[in-house]
Amino acid sequence: MERRTIGAGALAVGAVGLGCMPMSWGYSTSRQHGEKSLRAVHRALDLGSTLLDTADMYGPFTNELLLGRVLKERRRDAFVSTKVGLLVGDQHIVANGRPGYVRRACDASLRRLGTDVIDLYQLHRADPEVPVEETWGAMAELVRAGKVRALGLCAVGARSARRPGARLHDATVRQLERVQQVFPVSAVEAELSVWSPEALETLLPWCEQRGVGFLAAMPLGNGFLTGTLTPGVGFEADDLRARHPRFTAEMMAANQPIVVGLRRVARRHGAHVTPAQVALAWVLSRGRQVIPVPGAKRERWVVENAAAADLRLTDRDLAEIGGLPAAQGSWD
Ligand SMILES: NC(=O)c1ccc[n+]([C@@H]2O[C@H](COP(=O)([O-])OP(=O)(O)OC[C@H]3O[C@@H](n4cnc5c(N)ncnc54)[C@H](OP(=O)(O)O)[C@@H]3O)[C@@H](O)[C@H]2O)c1
Repeated sequence: MERRTIGAGALAVGAVGLGCMPMSWGYSTSRQHGEKSLRAVHRALDLGSTLLDTADMYGPFTNELLLGRVLKERRRDAFVSTKVGLLVGDQHIVANGRPGYVRRACDASLRRLGTDVIDLYQLHRADPEVPVEETWGAMAELVRAGKVRALGLCAVGARSARRPGARLHDATVRQLERVQQVFPVSAVEAELSVWSPEALETLLPWCEQRGVGFLAAMPLGNGFLTGTLTPGVGFEADDLRARHPRFTAEMMAANQPIVVGLRRVARRHGAHVTPAQVALAWVLSRGRQVIPVPGAKRERWVVENAAAADLRLTDRDLAEIGGLPAAQGSWD
């Protein structure tokens, strides 16, 4: 698989990574299955999808433990990205960016992952009670101590924090400028997909100009862009899509033209090519430093998604995708 680099340290990873969240968090827990997920992770590494994206809060903790079982045998094959800064409480998820907490959380992640170094340590969300420079400074100390190789900042929470009238990532860019004064940012993780392209406005250009890697979260639109979900499909109460405004039966029906468009492009490339692969190839085509991390717990999807690294979209394909209707259903 093609390799892409993260940050000035030129850490190389496979162009398509693996988002490990669905194995332990976010999607229906009844469909989670540890052993099958283990096979999926092994397959990803076999195929060159080396970037494994996890977080201490996925589970919580079980996702890192699951990866630890793979890393025990294959640490050298993997590039591990995990995150700090969010705690799962009884009722709410809370941010904690205090330096002492960051240090303890890192040691705990290292133990669960069974490794002595984390390749990319990401700040999951900034803590509104702690200046972000303080949190980032503590993370920088972890690099100096050899526990972490590079630092990243997640911007997935930007949607709920957006001020009226502001572009989605204006605040993220300001935050990046602040932390960059303390220690270099190697990667940014934010939502980027055919139906959520806002990162292209300011955030991706910011990364491009500074050689910062860009991890595209939710590149498959939480599964919608794959065309395997039918409008009206019920989601279990613990599935994030049960409360997602784009996953009501009405919005899923309204957004079908996007899937139809992706399917049309896929067909031109052969009967075996899927809308999921076109969606990933589009994300890959947004820039040389973009690394999609499609979430998957099934080996079948991992194989399909890895193959998207070889799909080259033509100018006609890109124009057609660019002309698809904007997604309906918003958090705002
Ligand atoms: N930093 C952050 O705050 C943040 C936030 C959200 C996500 N992320 C990262 O981004 C990753 C990706 O996001 P995501 O998992 O929420 O959304 P996603 O990648 O857009 O979609 C994942 C969903 O698509 C399904 N899927 C995957 N490949 C498929 C294929 N080829 N055909 C049909 N269905 C397919 C998966 O099914 P199965 O589950 O059945 O395999 C899963 O339900 C996460 O895993 C996580 O690592 C980070």
